Amino acid sequence: MKKVAVFGSTGSIGRATLDIISRCREKFSVFGLVANKQKDLLNEQIHTFEPGFAVFVDEQGKDGVKKGKTTYLYGKQHLEFLATHPEVDIVVMAISGLGGLNCTIKALEAGKTVALASKEIIVCAGHLLKDKKGKILPVDSEHNAIFQILDREKNSVTEIMLTASGGPFLNYKGDLSDVTVNQVLNHPVWKMGKRITVDSATMMNKGFEVIEAFYLFGIEKENIRVLLHPQAIVHGFVRFCDGFVKAVCSIPDMRYSINYCLNYPERIDAGLPELDISSVKNLTFEELKQGLFPCFDLAREALKKDISYLTVLNAADEEAVGMFLDGRIKFDSIPVIIEKALERHHPVYLGNVSDILTLDQQVRDEIRTFVNV
Ligand SMILES: NC(=O)c1ccc[n+]([C@@H]2O[C@H](COP(=O)([O-])OP(=O)(O)OC[C@H]3O[C@@H](n4cnc5c(N)ncnc54)[C@H](OP(=O)(O)O)[C@@H]3O)[C@@H](O)[C@H]2O)c1
Repeated sequence: MKKVAVFGSTGSIGRATLDIISRCREKFSVFGLVANKQKDLLNEQIHTFEPGFAVFVDEQGKDGVKKGKTTYLYGKQHLEFLATHPEVDIVVMAISGLGGLNCTIKALEAGKTVALASKEIIVCAGHLLKDKKGKILPVDSEHNAIFQILDREKNSVTEIMLTASGGPFLNYKGDLSDVTVNQVLNHPVWKMGKRITVDSATMMNKGFEVIEAFYLFGIEKENIRVLLHPQAIVHGFVRFCDGFVKAVCSIPDMRYSINYCLNYPERIDAGLPELDISSVKNLTFEELKQGLFPCFDLAREALKKDISYLTVLNAADEEAVGMFLDGRIKFDSIPVIIEKALERHHPVYLGNVSDILTLDQQVRDEIRTFVNV
């Protein structure tokens, strides 16, 4: 039985992970749960899954008290302990933002398998994740698709293609400065946390995914393409030098790639609904061209520059998205703020987690001074 620690258990990916675990109770036990603000939901999860440890990051309390089978811990200083605990077989990292950065690196150094959903970690610290003892299994559906192909056949790859559903504004004819938070959060295909949903509407999410693919698969930047595919059935393609192209498809539901990661290298039927190929009548693919989505272009440009631009990109995006969700800026101001932050940046060396977190904070502080809201 594999022992799983779920970081960000109360979020969209965390809940989907627990759903898969509850479908395969004979294969997995929950060793640890970590959440931030949703303490009631975390308590419910503790009641259902009876983990060995639960970490309430945003709460204060007496550490080490045991109730039932669970030892309660409070504060982010416990994340590394859980991520590197000798009994943990697999860490599911689904904390949004950089809150899980340090413990992800520690987990990999300790030789853990990390099912990595938190794309911010790969975007900002992809260069620090390399050559560690542990293995990264990508949870993001597009990268999971590419991983499934490359894990069996790495040689003679000429390009990879990630698909993009296009978000709520793919064919939108109105003025983007007028769109509301509710419109932006109404993604046509995926139900996700708020930040990634806004990032999907601006297409920054797809820009992040190009950066992720660059670090995860070591593919040249120019050989990573993005295809608009609103049906979101095909998640990724790999083209080989002999002209063959392999694709991975599923119903758009994150539980497929989570199930793959949890069971890797086996494949297990978790009772998820089957994709009925004969009912799929229309699959369309179109190159995502430059100039359509400014955030996507900013991400691709940042990837061509010094590594430190990627931390600026992520911090500026998270800050701007937060301002939009709070009603302080309009939707179309998001790329303007990010572009300004990137323009003001002078490259710096990012040799460790602390360097990244320092730059991240500087960018946020700077944005708060130049965005007059
Ligand atoms: N959702 C998707 O379909 C999807 C797909 C691919 C990749 N991802 C990536 O996966 C990550 C999670 O996405 P999501 O959609 O699941 O986000 P979400 O629904 O917003 O959930 C975020 C989770 O992280 C926890 N959290 C936030 N800050 C924390 C901190 N400082 N310390 C500890 N826990 C913290 C939250 O706890 P509380 O809720 O208790 O505050 C929550 O459990 C993101 O990086 C996202 O880009 C998501």
